[in-house]
Amino acid sequence: MSNTQDYVQWFRGAAPYIKAHRKKTFVIMISDEVIYSDQFIGLVHDIALLNHLGIKLVILHGSRSSIDSHLQKNRLELSFHNNIRITDSAALPFVVQAINEVKTCLESHLSMGLPNTPMSGSEISLVGGNFVTGMPLGVIDGVDMQHSGKVRAIKHQAISELLALNNVVLLSNLGYSRTGEVFNLPAEELAGEVARALKADKLVYIQRGLEQGEASASTLSTRQCETLLADPDTPDEMRNLLNQAIPAIQAQVKRVHFIDPRVDGGLLLELFTRDGYGTMVTNLFYEGSRAASIDDIGGILSLIEPLETSGILVVRSREQMELDIAHFQVIEKDGMIIGCIACIPDEEEMVAEIACLAVHADYQRAGLGNQLLQIAEDRALESGIRKLYTLTTRSSHWFIEHGFIESADFNLPAVKRASYNPQRGSKILLKTI
Ligand SMILES: CC(C)(COP(=O)(O)OP(=O)(O)OC[C@H]1O[C@@H](n2cnc3c(N)ncnc32)[C@H](O)[C@@H]1OP(=O)(O)O)[C@@H](O)C(=O)NCCC(=O)NCCS
Repeated sequence: MSNTQDYVQWFRGAAPYIKAHRKKTFVIMISDEVIYSDQFIGLVHDIALLNHLGIKLVILHGSRSSIDSHLQKNRLELSFHNNIRITDSAALPFVVQAINEVKTCLESHLSMGLPNTPMSGSEISLVGGNFVTGMPLGVIDGVDMQHSGKVRAIKHQAISELLALNNVVLLSNLGYSRTGEVFNLPAEELAGEVARALKADKLVYIQRGLEQGEASASTLSTRQCETLLADPDTPDEMRNLLNQAIPAIQAQVKRVHFIDPRVDGGLLLELFTRDGYGTMVTNLFYEGSRAASIDDIGGILSLIEPLETSGILVVRSREQMELDIAHFQVIEKDGMIIGCIACIPDEEEMVAEIACLAVHADYQRAGLGNQLLQIAEDRALESGIRKLYTLTTRSSHWFIEHGFIESADFNLPAVKRASYNPQRGSKILLKTI
């Protein structure tokens, strides 16, 4: 494909996302390591672009590594309890100084006119303020956390009003108490609290250290996040974020994204391409299963066609599909059918056939097959049917792992016998639910 065609394809692919994100609220947390890195300038252009596409932005910064280096430079000890910094009175002025320096750096970059860049001539209107009320973390396990705090309240109404006027709201990881004290807040937690208070559409974390292991999977449900948290090998950086993502999703933030900043344009790839670039936490994807309608037939056929061609699934005509469509469930992602299953009941013989189970190759091994089977089983139970059977040539083990047992002497229901092709040599498996 020529570059021009690539460009056209890319633009067409991005168009639905441009439309979908307009007027939506995104809370983006950027670590100070990223702000002081070579990649930051590209990120600033991308943030300017998001602002000009009509996305409402709250930008927060972290300050962890800057605080470390300020304290070290001033020969102060770095003390932590449960992985949380203890900010004592001696450290506080340096902590505030470090945070203000990061904020100034972020502010100055976001204030550039962006000459000689794709966003040349564009200007961002930035606003900050005392939107975060903090309170002391208190004494934990006998350790006084002193000026390390937690969020008490977010003035979300004031933030929403500023966003509605196309301002970008900038927040540092500081909170002020009603008695005039200053608290050092964990930026990840603050971002999560702000996203929850605003009921943001997206909460985005851009920071290093997110590329390892399982957690670099492209989509996670909150259940998978909990599994990762229970795994002692999950790194602390990821743990911090998972601990924010779960309550955010439970409080109706639609999606949480973790983006490793090393790839130029990673944020844009994550937001404007179907498969994204980073890791996304959402339960919407998993709730994306629904009963199929006649309009889904085209999508189901394109999903199963390669499997029919390779003999894994039995060939179904469009007409047959139209007759059976009421028995199908599908999983849709961004307008594409990525999974399907049929549960075809035989109310005479009180059995149901599980058929046409397929998950798109790009989305396998994420539990979708299991989810589809559970839905099909629920459908059978709704019709009062507790006995299931399936015919399979290649996936008998998958079904066995899901509670089916092989049964060579099972008498297929009369209706099924009429269309059954013994030459396929399918195995018959049964399950009682
Ligand atoms: C079978 C299928 C639906 C499973 O979908 P899925 O979303 O990947 O399923 P899950 O995520 O719930 O389960 C994945 C597990 O099943 C295993 N698995 C997948 N296909 C398997 C098979 N044919 N035999 C044994 N195990 C299989 C995977 O290796 C994975 O196990 P692991 O993660 O421990 O390694 C999918 O592989 C598929 O569409 N296959 C082609 C069509 C097909 O065979 N349909 C069934 C005939 S009706």
